[in-house]
Amino acid sequence: MTRMVFDEWGSSYSSRMQTMRRSAVRDLFAAASRSDIISLSGGMPDIGKLPLDLVSKAVAAAIDEEGISALQYGSTDGRIQTKEIICMLMRDFEIEVTPDDIIITAGAQQALDLLGKTFINPGDTIITEAPTYLGALQAFSAYEPSIVGIPFDDDGMRTDLLEEALESNRESLPKFIYTIPTFQNPGGVTMSLERRKELLELANRFGVLVIEDDPYGRLRYSGEPVPCLRKLDENVIYLGTVSKVFAPGLRTGWIIAPQPILNKINLAKQGTDLCGSALNQVVVEHYFNDTPWRKTLERLIAAYSVRKDAMMAALNEHFPPEASYTHPDGGFFLWVTLPKYVDTGQMLSLALDSGVTYVPGDGCYPNGEGRNSMRIAFCYEEPDAIAEAIRRLAGVIEDRVELCRAFVNAGALKY
Ligand SMILES: Cc1ncc(COP(=O)(O)O)c(C=O)c1O
Repeated sequence: MTRMVFDEWGSSYSSRMQTMRRSAVRDLFAAASRSDIISLSGGMPDIGKLPLDLVSKAVAAAIDEEGISALQYGSTDGRIQTKEIICMLMRDFEIEVTPDDIIITAGAQQALDLLGKTFINPGDTIITEAPTYLGALQAFSAYEPSIVGIPFDDDGMRTDLLEEALESNRESLPKFIYTIPTFQNPGGVTMSLERRKELLELANRFGVLVIEDDPYGRLRYSGEPVPCLRKLDENVIYLGTVSKVFAPGLRTGWIIAPQPILNKINLAKQGTDLCGSALNQVVVEHYFNDTPWRKTLERLIAAYSVRKDAMMAALNEHFPPEASYTHPDGGFFLWVTLPKYVDTGQMLSLALDSGVTYVPGDGCYPNGEGRNSMRIAFCYEEPDAIAEAIRRLAGVIEDRVELCRAFVNAGALKY
């Protein structure tokens, strides 16, 4: 039972606390770790598939070989050796950068917060996809922007609607366009090359910055790679992370941006944390220098690919015709849309009773739409469990659709 507590500090909180949102995923964390629940909610990588013996050696080497600097304060923008690893990783995407082009952050999440801190004044407009990564909405909303959400289809963000939004905000242009073009979270869709070029053309024509968030770019299971926005345009601010290809527990991500912007972000970061964890950065260096990480990643990709196929097969077999869903070529998630009269937030308790969790869609929308949608993740559970979870979820959806349709027909439910 929740204990009601009178909050005597109510008038002391900043106005931004009123606009900050809770994360449905964080709230579901406890439920998702219950042993009787199959979790389709979190975007958690399969750490069990990492060579933990080698990681353990990397941690030991971090102390043995670099203990003094690893345990000391470091520079705000991160260790040069870590940045050299990032340069190497970016070369796989045919993007040439030097350590000077990079700031190391505590995951891509800190990068999002720093970008909010650097660019957003209360009331400024920013553009995101709709739906988008709910952690980005959390990070940005702390700086009190007005967020315009642009829908996507199977080819990514709808650039026709983006153009309309930019036209109608001509008087006070958005500070930036935030996009996850590859294996979008939560949609799973990838922006086509044509759309990428259109987006960049619009951003340049209107003089608006583009932020490309790319945690899943390496996790492709089918189809042809599409170049990063940053490869197509050097002014794009690129966010990367080791969270999905190595370990989120090391909280290591990075920002690549033009020099003047990096200088401002660096300033913003000084007040946030002085510097990131040097120890974590050294572990990351050892992992990418001294372990067969490409082989490990291939194993992870193979496992995620099988899980995705298991989910797609189960969806095809069990989901009612009223449900539509995306068909990702990579990443961790897909997006389900149900009839308008089904509220996935309300349905969640029934799903939990059936032993399944998912993320209700409305939290992923800047302005609370999407109540009839949900994000489901295929990254975490084994294929059999995924198939079982989809079977259970399909049952819950069918019951709900039937009940809601009866209410709608009786005129007792409007939508
Ligand atoms: C699109 C997107 N951006 C950023 C993040 C945050 O990642 P990190 O663990 O690097 O902070 C996530 C995590 O799920 C994500 O999906």
